[in-house]
Amino acid sequence: MCGIFGCLLKGGSAAPLIHVALKRLEYRGYDSVGAATVYEGRLYVKKDQGNVDAVHAKLHLDNLPGRLGIGHTRWATHGAPLQKNAHPQLDCDNRIAVVHNGVLENFSGLRQELEERGHVFRSKTDTEVIPHLIEESMKAGLGFADAVREAVKRLEGSYAIAAICTQEPDKIVCARKESPLVVGIGDSSIYCASDIPAFLPLTKRAIAMRDGEFAILSDAGAEIKKIADWSPVEREPETITWDLEMAEKLGYPYFMIKEIHEQPESLRNTLRLQDTYLDLMATFLDRAREVFLVACGTSYHACLAASHMFSKLAFRSTQPIIASEFVQRAGDSISVDSTVLAVSQSGETADTLSAVMHASNRAATILGLTNVIGSTLTRVSRTYTCQQSGPEIGVAATKTFTAQVSVLAQIAIKLGEKRGKLFHEEAKTLRKKLQQIPEIVERIIATQEEKIKGLAKKYRDKRCFFFLGRGISTATASEGMLKLMEIAYVPAITYPAGESKHGPISLIEEGFPVVFVCPNDSTRKATIGNIMEMKARGAVVLAIIEEGDEEIKNLADDYVEVPKGVPEVLTPIPYVVPLQLFAYHMAIERGCNPDMPRNLAKSVTVL
Ligand code: M6R
Repeated sequence: MCGIFGCLLKGGSAAPLIHVALKRLEYRGYDSVGAATVYEGRLYVKKDQGNVDAVHAKLHLDNLPGRLGIGHTRWATHGAPLQKNAHPQLDCDNRIAVVHNGVLENFSGLRQELEERGHVFRSKTDTEVIPHLIEESMKAGLGFADAVREAVKRLEGSYAIAAICTQEPDKIVCARKESPLVVGIGDSSIYCASDIPAFLPLTKRAIAMRDGEFAILSDAGAEIKKIADWSPVEREPETITWDLEMAEKLGYPYFMIKEIHEQPESLRNTLRLQDTYLDLMATFLDRAREVFLVACGTSYHACLAASHMFSKLAFRSTQPIIASEFVQRAGDSISVDSTVLAVSQSGETADTLSAVMHASNRAATILGLTNVIGSTLTRVSRTYTCQQSGPEIGVAATKTFTAQVSVLAQIAIKLGEKRGKLFHEEAKTLRKKLQQIPEIVERIIATQEEKIKGLAKKYRDKRCFFFLGRGISTATASEGMLKLMEIAYVPAITYPAGESKHGPISLIEEGFPVVFVCPNDSTRKATIGNIMEMKARGAVVLAIIEEGDEEIKNLADDYVEVPKGVPEVLTPIPYVVPLQLFAYHMAIERGCNPDMPRNLAKSVTVL
């Protein structure tokens, strides 16, 4: 997730507005920042690594000539957060500048093709193919807008782009597919941006662009067309009534709920990971003598789910260990034969890094899965994969959990194939099912959230909860428990459902709430047995079930339904979503601020 901005004024200087807009978009990423303007037939560019303030202090971002320009604040996905990878990216002749938010799946093929035709690349970004593609078409005689259209027609993946060029210095051309883009219409100005807050103090009139649309911004206004057939799109600007704070949350009251709702999009991004990264990870895991999955909190729950996936799909046994326990539990046995896959959204969690350093000092192979390229974890890992979720602001991890599980599932499938444990057809089916998960999550949010709100009202005064599941659903249940505890301050306990009868069941009395995660998988029958045990002792059961599971509907007091057709190993992704929503609405019901749970920090950098 990056922030893009474009600004065209009838008079005056665009750069100061770009600078301020980038500051407002910084919540979308802050690895590097850049801006470009066109003035008297020349392109002026300033960009560097660091956040807006740091880059501005060094380069004076508001000091670029010209009434038209574009800007970018980056959340690195392809290429480290270095100056050369900062946007705007340029063509060979420094005539075309492009800013991009999204992930291009086919950039390596395009890059190779363009390099063979003599284009010189200066960055490691996927974005850089775009200015070179535009350059090709313009050299072949097309005008700027047509050349941009030809370029985007070749792109696979997601993008919101804004481009400027010296040959046609009076327009900004932008296009979108699966990444947000809004056009702002001022009295004597026009803007494009990833998000409304970028231009909200300048104009309240906005047109939200849709997938497959293209806009040419000029002094005449915004001309919107469909990329596919170049047909015109007529859409009146809407008047935005949000204040700046609401706009940053896209109108949601809290970042947590915005991020829960963002999951279909962030999951789609995880499915755009380059195969080479997955393959490299799988190769290391295949060769390892022993594999530890090390993490804290939510990331640890992703590891729990992964241990089931690796075992079921690749017959690879792995040990998930909470990072702060790693040295005590496994420290002495770690050697050159050990492999540690550390999972950390921030890549900066002290407990995780301390476990990693211990293992690294004993010559173990360190692999990383993180959301932050350039974080300490990426620097100490032999190889790492970026989960591509974009920044998560809510302290409670939500979209980063489902993204981690999705990436780990992709690695497990790869590993299964490599080890000959998964037939090609099985792997293909699982990948197809993974592709369907974003839509399933969309449906859960659309159809179940109102019901879950009602459940939060019903359960708001309960003083303690059980979260139970079997098999891979123990990971889902654990994550549901953590969410409820950390943001709604309700004590909660999680156990593998089968273990509950070995002690915890003595807590059950009339009205004690038990949440069961019960997909229609190989554990369902046994879990139904546990539901009956709990019901017999007076528990109130809230079950997360597959759509249409009448047997459990009849047993449970309440249920939330998840669409059919999710393979067992992928269930944690959609089944955790009702639990995230439940925790969020419980927090709201109980008057807690879910974005700022007491005593917690987004990144825990102390041991
Ligand atoms: O950045 P990390 O993934 O390493 O963070 C690990 C935990 O601190 C984190 O998941 C924490 O448990 C969250 N508050 C969970 O919502």
